[in-house]
Order: sequence, then C-alpha cells, then structure tokens
Amino acid sequence: MTSPKHPSFAPEKTLDPTDWVAFREQAHRMLDAAVDRMETYREGSIWNPFPPALQANYQGPLPVEGIGAEATQAHLTALLPFGVGNTHPRFFGWVHGSGTPSNLMADITAAAINANLGGRDHGAMYVEKQVMNWCRELFQFPETSSGLIVSGTSIATVIALKAARDRCFNFSNRKTGLQQNALGPLVGYTSEQTHSCVARAFDILGLGSDALRKIAVNERFEMDTLALQATIAKDRAAGLTPFVIVGTAGAVNVGSIDDLETLADISKAENIWFHIDGAFGALGVLSERLSPRLSGIKRADSLAFDFHKWLHVNYDAGFILMRSEEDHRRTFSERPEYLKGAERGLAAGNPWPVEYGPELSRGFRALKVWAQLAEHGTAKLGALITQNCEQAAYLGELVEAHAHLRLMAPVAMNICCFRYQAEGQDDKTTDALNGEIVIQLQIQGIAAPSTTLVNGRNAIRVNITNHRTTRADLALLVQEIERIGLELTALS
Ligand SMILES: Cc1ncc(COP(=O)(O)O)c(C=O)c1O
Repeated sequence: MTSPKHPSFAPEKTLDPTDWVAFREQAHRMLDAAVDRMETYREGSIWNPFPPALQANYQGPLPVEGIGAEATQAHLTALLPFGVGNTHPRFFGWVHGSGTPSNLMADITAAAINANLGGRDHGAMYVEKQVMNWCRELFQFPETSSGLIVSGTSIATVIALKAARDRCFNFSNRKTGLQQNALGPLVGYTSEQTHSCVARAFDILGLGSDALRKIAVNERFEMDTLALQATIAKDRAAGLTPFVIVGTAGAVNVGSIDDLETLADISKAENIWFHIDGAFGALGVLSERLSPRLSGIKRADSLAFDFHKWLHVNYDAGFILMRSEEDHRRTFSERPEYLKGAERGLAAGNPWPVEYGPELSRGFRALKVWAQLAEHGTAKLGALITQNCEQAAYLGELVEAHAHLRLMAPVAMNICCFRYQAEGQDDKTTDALNGEIVIQLQIQGIAAPSTTLVNGRNAIRVNITNHRTTRADLALLVQEIERIGLELTALS
C-alpha cells in the first residue's frame, strides 16, 4: 500500500512462509523424522558423541543472510540422534526423566499458540491454573496455597528460600536489602546428602553458602534429626537466626528420604520455615510403595519438584508449591503501571504469575504437564514409579548375588549404588576402575550410569527414572560391568 507522503513504500516483509503448502509438507517431513527417532529409541548406541563434521555446523559466523527453510530443516533433522541418551531404556545417569512421544503434541500446540504466561487473560492461563490445582490436590496443600511452573527444582528452590528469607523480615528487606538487618546472620539446615542447588540458592540470595549447615546423616543416609536440633540450639545461643530447614525427599546420591514428619515437628516447634527438595522423590506420592514415607510433604511450607524427572514430561518443567499464597505473593509482587491488571479485557485474569516468581515472560510449559497427566492419569504414572523402585531393588539383589559387585548403600527408592571389586585390589585402584567401567559403558554405547562418592568411595550409580527400562536391561548392565571389569583388571 502506498501513502501520499511516501509513494515509494516497499512491500512489508514478514517471517511467515510465502508458500504455506510447502511449509505444511516440510512440517510433516519433520514430524516423520521426529517420530522415526522416537520409535527407535531402544536401537543403537545409547550415546553418540557429536561428530566433528556436525560440530563444524555450529562454529560459523553470525549469518547475515539466512540459509532458508530447507537447509535449516536439514540441520534440525541431523541433530536428532545426538541427545544425551535419556530416551534410551538403559540411561541411568544423574536423574533424567525419559520423556514421552505423546508430549510432542503438547509442544507442537504450545509452539503454535506461542503464548506468554507472565499474565493476562487467555486460554493457556486456565491450563496452568488447572495444573496448580492438581498439584495442590496431589500434595494435600490447602486452598490458600499457591504455585508456579518453572524450569526446574534449582530455580524453584531459589523462589522458596527467598520467601522463607523475606518472611523473616516481614518482607521489608525487599526494599532495604540485607546490608543492615535487625536479625543478624540468617542460617539454614539441610543434610550432608543435599543437592548442590540448595547451597547455590543461599549464594544467589546473598546469604552465602556458609550459612547453610549440612547436618550429618544416619546409616540410611537420612538427616540425623538429633544433630539438627543440637545445631539449631547452638546457633541460637550464638545469636544467629535459624530461618529454614530443607528436608530431602529423594536424595540425589542414594535416593534416601529424610524423616519428613520429624523435620516438620522440629520446624513447627522452632518456628522455622520447612522446605522440601522433592526434585524427583516428591512424585512418589503417586506410588503406593512410596507414599507412606512421604506423608510429611503435606506439612511443608514449600515444596520444589520436577515434572521432567519422574513424570517423564519432556524437558523442562518443574514446580514450586507454597503453603501461603500471601507469603508467596509478597515475596515477588511488583505491578508497575504498564503491567496493571483490569477487571475485563486482556489485562484481566488476576493475579498474574509474574507476582509469584522472578520471570515476566514465561512459556507454556503447563501444557505438556497437563497433557501428560490428562493422557496417562495418576494411576499409571504412579505404577511406573513403583516399577522403577522394584527394578532398583532387583538390581540390588543381582549385585548382592554377584561375586565381584558390592552394594554401597541401601536401595531406598530408585537408586542403586554399587561397585566392582576385583580380588586383592585396594580402594584407590577400585575407585579408578569403577570410574573407567562407567566411561566404557557410555563410550561403548551399552548403558549410561553415572558415578558418585558414597562414604568417600567411588560408586557406579544407577538411577532409574525411566519408563522404558526392563529387568532384562538391568541384567545386561550387570553382565557388561562384569565383562568390562574383567577386561580392565586383566590389563592392569
Ligand atoms: C534431589 C535433587 N534436587 C535438586 C535437583 C536440581 O533439579 P533441576 O535439575 O531440575 O534444577 C536435582 C537434580 O537432579 C535433584 O536430584
């Protein structure tokens, strides 16, 4: 269109396809390639190092002229085999969920809608509210609780501990900062088995990681609650202000569950915020086998957990659940004039998620969580959690029956830590041998456990948050560890 003032206006540009038929065909081809990849998850190597030829594709200069849709799609398709391996049935490393093919539909829908869930009144917000209400129901939190979908437990922990910290100052510190606070140094408590994200949250919140006391654990790797009480008393006597106890429902090293009921009792008696890191373990409430040990969750002030771990939602999706909506909102709420709500129209839908966390722009993670729960239901998802625990127990039995394998910790949940022990080998050599066994399993594309230290010694750590794993996969793992162990010992 021309203008009297600008008769030579050029036609406007857009990023939309000029040929929608061609785009549709291209999208179908991409979908086929993605489904082919998913249908063959069990086949081939568990992990394929990224070839130098493909690495080179990601080392070029910033493109001034684009390469176009076809060439871009060729790059996307070429990436498909080079994931971390967590979609394979024998991926046992760290704590990775395995995802589901059907979650792709939610991701396609979310990409097509391209919603921003910082606030406002639109369909996506109702989906997130439904997920929030489901979480409330799942963990038996009151009507007055609140929550937010986030990328994962690390950021959920920061949000929770900020609320715990700010409540100590009746939220005045949000304006005045912590430089001159009337309470003196704040201190918090967790177990020696805690995940590093808790200390990181202390650091991010300006408290310093030294302010986090790591309480010793018992022989089951659960926090020693007597030691906790003694440390709190000592800190109070020294003029410090205890402000949070962080319990763990599923510790990352060995899967232990703290005595959450006792921690809730201590928090109540001491008037200290009770937070639970339930990154993977909290969803054990869906499993008949685990739920009795997780009864203390419903007493927490805040709970951080992930949908991308034991609910197998595609990466990434975590959640922060807060007992007090008011505390939660007062920790983050800030509504400048350009974000003002309204009774009607698009700016309605109060309160907005931006009032419950640090982010304004937020993607539609809620949809894939909703879709996973809606399609599969809690009964099936819970049964899969039980299945993984039974598989870990089965692996523990295989280990105990094996001449060269030693169990390093009780199998409390879904994690089995053990090591290969060659005859007459000292601890240090055995540490190195087990590290090498794990690397060989990964490089040879057989299985992907990770390693950790248990009581100071290197262990092969098998975490099963994988709905594709079978007992046959675990038998194969043991067989291959034996083979590699023998080969490496013969070489040394
Ligand atoms: C017990 C525990 N807490 C926290 C985290 C951090 O979670 P995320 O990676 O989702 O930030 C993990 C990750 O494995 C974990 O196992």
